[in-house]
Amino acid sequence: MAKVNSNYGKLQAGYLFPEIGRRVKAYTDANPKENVIRLGIGDVVLPLPAAIREAMHKAVDDLGTLDGFHGYGPEQGYSFLRDAIAGSYSKKGVKISADEIFVSDGSKCDSGNIQEIFSLDSKIAMTDPVYPVYVDTNVMAGRSGVADENGQYAGFSYLPTTAENDFVAPFPEAPVDVIYLCSPNNPTGTVLTKSKLKAWVDYAKENNSVILFDAAYVDFISDDSLPKSIYEIEGAREVAIEFRSLSKNAGFTGTRCAWTIVPKELKGWNDSGEEVSFHALWNRRHCTKFNGVSYPVQKGAEAAFSGEGEQQISELVTYYMENAQIIKKALNDMGITTYGGENAPYIWLKTPSDKTSWEFFDWLLNTCQIVGTPGSGFGAAGEGYFRISAFAVRENVNTAVARMKTAMT
Ligand code: MLT
Repeated sequence: MAKVNSNYGKLQAGYLFPEIGRRVKAYTDANPKENVIRLGIGDVVLPLPAAIREAMHKAVDDLGTLDGFHGYGPEQGYSFLRDAIAGSYSKKGVKISADEIFVSDGSKCDSGNIQEIFSLDSKIAMTDPVYPVYVDTNVMAGRSGVADENGQYAGFSYLPTTAENDFVAPFPEAPVDVIYLCSPNNPTGTVLTKSKLKAWVDYAKENNSVILFDAAYVDFISDDSLPKSIYEIEGAREVAIEFRSLSKNAGFTGTRCAWTIVPKELKGWNDSGEEVSFHALWNRRHCTKFNGVSYPVQKGAEAAFSGEGEQQISELVTYYMENAQIIKKALNDMGITTYGGENAPYIWLKTPSDKTSWEFFDWLLNTCQIVGTPGSGFGAAGEGYFRISAFAVRENVNTAVARMKTAMT
């Protein structure tokens, strides 16, 4: 008898975005003529930059020749890309060696899979609200008990981030082994300052814990005083793993390319109390379970770090951040309190008239034909909040804003 992994039975409802998709489909099936504007899932819409496309075209042509053909590549990524990534850190004064960089097909996969190299009895902390992948993958692995009526799993340490604490997570009440931090934050759009991040690095050092730092949105930071990598913080190499992605800045949500940095200094302990390198473990895991990102995609990713590529990416980022400003200003003009949207492509708003997050979702869909993301879908402390994504074409942003103004005045 094939028994199932019963940890899956503990998972709450479906994954957030398919659940939203289901509700939107029900609405569009019933209202086929309505033009629904999607500002829910953070999926990019603008075309892939020309420098990246050209590099991909050339790579495909290479594959059509005997000399340029590539079969299996190195699991960790081709050195041309790892060197380009390391170079991009060094330009910002952060020293990362190319062999600490693991190229992958996405930060969702990496931030979901990373928990495999930690002991099953590790104590896990995550912010609330939070990107659901961190939570669900630990539930699937068996690190939690069952969820309570708020959807919070027994055994996890939830760190509430709300307007009351400026969306900066408090330290866990009891020591933890692993902490997930995301900055710029998905979903709140807020960013940890250097001093706040330093406090976390110090916490991790004192408690022999590891920070899993999701930095998928750092390219959207415009304030130069804010950290764009955790390794800008002294001592972080000994306590942190960083996830980066080309999905949101360079338009790779469909193309898929990301990387994870596991510094060589980062150590954990085995059951006998001996030090073990997390770099070695992640390398072992990556080689066993992953066969690398395709050659044309890695060539496209390399071009993202060329002068031309960087310029074209900055134009995409500027466009999305102008969207964010338009949305944020319009909401504020309507008297709605907003957070984020200044150094991140997400606007996190307080739902008006004390509506619950899902009530506001339904109201916005039915009244304005706009899809957003209910804050409670990211965790109990997200109740009463709502996320709007700035990843949209300008025309849709303007239409969405006009519809909301009409409905709210
Ligand atoms: C989101 O909308 O939160 C993101 O698109 C999710 C993701 O990047 O996987």
